[in-house]
Amino acid sequence: MFVSENLGVNEKGHLTAGGVDTVELAQQYGTPLYVMDENLLVKNAQRYKNSIDKFYGGNGMVCYASKVFCCKEVCRIMNNEGIGLDVVSIGELYTAFKAGADFEKICFHGNNKTDEELEFAVDNKVGRIIVDNMFELERLDRIAGEKGVKANIMFRIKPGIDAHTHDFVKTGQIDSKFGFALETGEAMEAVKKAIACPNVNLKGIHCHIGSQIFAIDPFVEAAQVMMKFIADIKEQCDWEITELNLGGGFGIMYTEKDDPVPYEDYMEKVSAAVKESCEKLNVKLPFILIEPGRSIAGPAGITLYTCGGVKHIPNIRTYVSIDGGMTDNPRYALYQSEYDAVVANKADKPKDTTVTIAGKCCESGDLIGEGMALQSAEPGDIIAVCATGAYNYSMSSNYNRIPKPAVIFVKDGQSRVVIKRETLDDIIRNDI
Ligand code: LLP
Repeated sequence: MFVSENLGVNEKGHLTAGGVDTVELAQQYGTPLYVMDENLLVKNAQRYKNSIDKFYGGNGMVCYASKVFCCKEVCRIMNNEGIGLDVVSIGELYTAFKAGADFEKICFHGNNKTDEELEFAVDNKVGRIIVDNMFELERLDRIAGEKGVKANIMFRIKPGIDAHTHDFVKTGQIDSKFGFALETGEAMEAVKKAIACPNVNLKGIHCHIGSQIFAIDPFVEAAQVMMKFIADIKEQCDWEITELNLGGGFGIMYTEKDDPVPYEDYMEKVSAAVKESCEKLNVKLPFILIEPGRSIAGPAGITLYTCGGVKHIPNIRTYVSIDGGMTDNPRYALYQSEYDAVVANKADKPKDTTVTIAGKCCESGDLIGEGMALQSAEPGDIIAVCATGAYNYSMSSNYNRIPKPAVIFVKDGQSRVVIKRETLDDIIRNDI
C-alpha cells in the first residue's frame, strides 16, 4: 500500500512514519517538514554492510554517499555504525569533520576539486581521494609534496557501461564529465603517471555508472570491466591495485511502478563476478568499496506539507497547493521524477482524486507531480510526499527567499530536530 516499509496507518486513520503519527508531527514542528526514520536509515546501511560480510568475507566497506542527505547527525550515525562517507565538496567534508567522522573512511570525490579542497583533504588525512583528471593529479602531487605527505588515491574511471537511467544521472559512459575513459587509453596513461608521482599512492580504481538503476547486470559488467583494467595495470605497469570502488546507484521505490532489487542480490552477484575475474585474470581479490546513497536515505524520508487550497479547472486538472514545493524538492522540475503522496490525516480513505501537487514558488514548473492519485484534499489537510529522504533536503534552495524546512528524526516513538527550520533572519544573514 505504501512505497516505504516504515509507513503505516494508525487507529485515527493518520499516516505513521516509523510508528509516529505524522499529523501530530506537523502540528508540533510546523510544515513543510522533512521527517526521517532513523531506524530505517541505519537498517538500510547495515543491509549493505552485512551483504559484504556474507558474500565477500567482510573484505570491503560501505561509504554512505552523503550528497543525498548530509548533516552532522547523519555523519555521526553512519560513523557509529562503522560506515564510511563519500563526500564531494569541502562543505560535506567540513560537516563530516565537525561531526567527528573517521577521515580514514572517507572517499573524496569531485570532477573539479579546488586547491582549498585538496589541502583540507590532505591536512585531515582523508583515506582516499578519488582523482578525476590529470590536472588534479598534478595539483594533488604538488600539494601533498608541499606538506611532506603521500596522499592515497583512486582513479575515477568511465567503464563505458550504459546504465539505462535518466540522462542527467548517467555517469559511466564515455561522454561524461567525470573521470578517465578506458577506451581512449587516457586511464592507463594516468595510472603510469601516478605511479611516477612521488607524493601520491595509487591504491585503487573507482567507477559509478549512474543512479536509480534497477538492473543488476550493468553493475556486474562494470565490475568485470574494472577487474580487467586491474589485470592490465598489473601486466603493463607491474603495479598492484588493491582496492575497487564500485560506486552507488541502486534504485528505490518512488511509486508502485518501480521494482527495486534487494540490495543483497546486488552484492551477491557482484562479489561472484569479482571473485571469478580474479581467478581468470590471476589477480588478488581487491578490497571492495560501495557508495549507496539514495537506497539508504531515500525510503527513510517523507515530507509533510499543509494544503492551502484546491483549484479545480474543469476538464483540465485539479491543483492542490502546498506550503513548499521546488525549493524543498526540485526533483520533478529537474527530472520529472514521480512520487507517491498521501493526505496524512485521511490515510485510511481511498485515493479517489487525480491531482497536480503545486508548490508556492512564482514559477509554473514548480510541481511535485502531475496525475497523482490522492485522497480528496481540502485546505488544512496535511499532505505527505513519500520517499523524499534522498536528494531533497540536500538539493533544496532559498528560491523566492523561502526558508528551508526543519529536518526531524523519528526513532522508537520519539522525535527530535536534527536540522533547525530556517528563520527569516537566516534568509538575510549574509546581506550587507
Ligand atoms: N558515488 C558517486 C561517485 C556518485 O556520484 C553518486 C551519486 C553516488 C555514489 C550515490 O548514488 P546513489 O546510490 O544515491 O544513486 N540528484 C540526482 C542524483 C544524482 C546522483 C549523483 N551521484 C537525483 O536526485 O536523482
